[in-house]
Amino acid sequence: MPSDKVYVRTFGCQMNVYDTGKMYALLARDGWERAETPEEATLILINTCSIREKAENKLHSTLGEYRGLRKRGQQVRVGVTGCVAQQEGEAILRRYPDVDLVVGPDGVPHIRELVARAQAGERVLDTDFLALAGYPFVPDVDPQASKLHTGFVTVQKGCDHKCTYCIVPSVRGAEVSRSADEVVAEVEALVAQGLKDITLIGQNVNGWGKGLPGDPRFGELLLRVGAVSGLDRLHYTTSHPSEMGPDIYQAHRQLPNLVPHLHLPVQSGNNRILKRMHRLYTREHYLDVVAALREARPDLVLGSDFIVGFPGETAAEFQQTLDLLVEADIVMSYSFKYSERPGTPAPRLPDAVPPEVAGQRLTALQTLQRERSLAWHRSLEGRVFPVLVEGPARHDEGVIAGRTPHGAMVNFPGSLEQLNQLALVRVTKGFTHSARGEQVGSADLR
Ligand code: 5AD
Ligand code: SF4
Repeated sequence: MPSDKVYVRTFGCQMNVYDTGKMYALLARDGWERAETPEEATLILINTCSIREKAENKLHSTLGEYRGLRKRGQQVRVGVTGCVAQQEGEAILRRYPDVDLVVGPDGVPHIRELVARAQAGERVLDTDFLALAGYPFVPDVDPQASKLHTGFVTVQKGCDHKCTYCIVPSVRGAEVSRSADEVVAEVEALVAQGLKDITLIGQNVNGWGKGLPGDPRFGELLLRVGAVSGLDRLHYTTSHPSEMGPDIYQAHRQLPNLVPHLHLPVQSGNNRILKRMHRLYTREHYLDVVAALREARPDLVLGSDFIVGFPGETAAEFQQTLDLLVEADIVMSYSFKYSERPGTPAPRLPDAVPPEVAGQRLTALQTLQRERSLAWHRSLEGRVFPVLVEGPARHDEGVIAGRTPHGAMVNFPGSLEQLNQLALVRVTKGFTHSARGEQVGSADLR
């Protein structure tokens, strides 16, 4: 009798990547092995994302793929986890009779019991939010973690902001912070497995601390984690500009291993639109935050997220978003056309932007972004950086790829034996999405 194998297909953000790791770790306790492909699995979980409509549609097509496996005679149970599971709940069981299990993000800590019930033949539904007091963050570390170059550690879940376009608060629930001791213990466990690069994650990561004894600040947590011996690189994501403050600036000033890169979504460069989005800051405040961060860490490189075509956005207001990209010196960004999400207030706002206008704005923003990324990568030419090797380059044999501390991807000739090691690399040529380089030595920051 072959052993049971589980395959998790992950969509969406780092929180989902992390939950996937936790599910593998928890199910391993019951003897579940990790399947490398869906074809060898006896259980497939689709860990879904509902942030935009396009992401949500992927559930339907993915279920179709796995239905094909069953038609070809594979004995496999299929479950839907994550944000679409939370949002649609029982409707998924009704719409897809071949789905065995529907589990929202708060079901992850109980995944062993839920899967056991599905294995016994029950169609399982769990979309309850857990009580905030004593929220059971899962301490297990993904058994595969040591094979990866970078690890995630959750420090808080949920979001108490009420951005008018965003479905996250309704599918991920209210903010809960994990105790600093637990976070530090998990980081230490990952570093002991050989990981050098850790990202602290949460939907509103810099809001960490609310509700914990003594109301600690996120900057204090950064200082504790940054002091873990053997940790070369510390990142955190995703932050809200309105919750940046002196404690965090101080951590950037003080910690050499806190990377000089920050993803700080701004969404729009216009104050009227920011207000309509309920973002709780102005363009001017965002620029002040960026200035304070750069004062603390002059080499800081800034990334951001943008939504274009939000209801009411005029051409002049959109132009302010383009201008902000330049003024804040944002060198990497993700940008999206506004997408109506069920249960959010923004669809009721007047003056919807026609889709073709939103499309043109997205193209304009992404064109400017690509120019800026190219200029940034070119500005690195001739300089030497420690590069943490992540794997083979995508297209070239004998070439490996890794990242500089500020997140630039550099390809250079080398061997896969250097995986998870730090090489000193001189950048020789910058491109739009990456740079090329040559190794000039090895670096050990410890
Ligand atoms: N439409 C378009 N983009 C969205 N985002 C979140 N909600 C929506 C939406 N309804 C984007 C934001 C956020 C990123 C994760 O996804 O830019 O920062
Ligand atoms: Fe959504 Fe806003 Fe919370 Fe981010 S801060 S998860 S955009 S509600």
